[in-house]
Amino acid sequence: METNLTNYIEGAPVKVHVDNVVRKFTGRGGEMIALNGVTLDIHDNEFICVVGPSGCGKSTLLNIIAGLLEPTSGEVYCDGKRVEGTGTDRGVVFQQYALFPWLTVKKNVKFALEMKGIKGAEADELAMHYLEKVDLTKFADSYPKELSGGMKQRVAIARAYAADPQVLLMDEPFGALDAQTRTQLQTELLQTWERDRKTCFFITHDVDEAIILAQKVIVMSARPGRVKAIIDIDIPYPRDQETKMSPRFLELKNEIWSLVYQEYLEVRK
Ligand SMILES: Nc1ncnc2c1ncn2[C@@H]1O[C@H](COP(=O)(O)OP(=O)(O)O)[C@@H](O)[C@H]1O
Ligand SMILES: [Mg+2]
Repeated sequence: METNLTNYIEGAPVKVHVDNVVRKFTGRGGEMIALNGVTLDIHDNEFICVVGPSGCGKSTLLNIIAGLLEPTSGEVYCDGKRVEGTGTDRGVVFQQYALFPWLTVKKNVKFALEMKGIKGAEADELAMHYLEKVDLTKFADSYPKELSGGMKQRVAIARAYAADPQVLLMDEPFGALDAQTRTQLQTELLQTWERDRKTCFFITHDVDEAIILAQKVIVMSARPGRVKAIIDIDIPYPRDQETKMSPRFLELKNEIWSLVYQEYLEVRK
């Protein structure tokens, strides 16, 4: 049976509320506005992708939601509580793996568990459980430098899952990988999301990736970043790479790509 989650989400409670967030930076050229009044809701279990030209403030927005960066004005709420720093309810995956090079794969994953107070045999068992989810049990005792880029990113994803956050914030997690590896990790992430339905906020500059993954695509305007458009991806799950051939996919791709392209032209002006 096909489940059209886009319909379901409309009734879901708001998990993260971003309320009129402004972020300024002071640099050599004086003050610049990176985000200029961003308001959006992320619903429980929702998969949102954010696209927009480079420098439009995508990472800034994600870091503010993560609590790694403070807004200049405006607020972020998670479950109705104001975000005032990082929290175990929100987990982050960055483009560059951010693994500890001196720890084995398994110990990298265990680190997230230990942060939650899980230790000893239980941590060992759980670490292997999460490594199994990303098909890396054979590499449990390897070090990050012995792994390919795709494998390192899988470890980072396993570690984020081990922390068991309610909201996964992903900043171009597959951006540095070759097309084939990226496709494979997209498929794995989709399968995991369809099983666990964690709330996902996923940044990408790849429109195909956004459409294949998300229920909703947010297009951001060129600097200063704002929400330019929110597009419902009304393609039912389960989706796979074949979905990219469907007429509806191509229609949405056209629509979103031209919105992004307009903003790209703004940047070049
Ligand atoms: N820590 C910082 N200090 C100064 N400027 C920054 C800082 N972080 C980001 N910026 C600027 O803010 C803008 C948005 O950056 P960013 O959020 O990284 O964009 P994106 O992720 O969409 O490419 C860019 O012009 C960037 O140079
Ligand atoms: Mg970025």
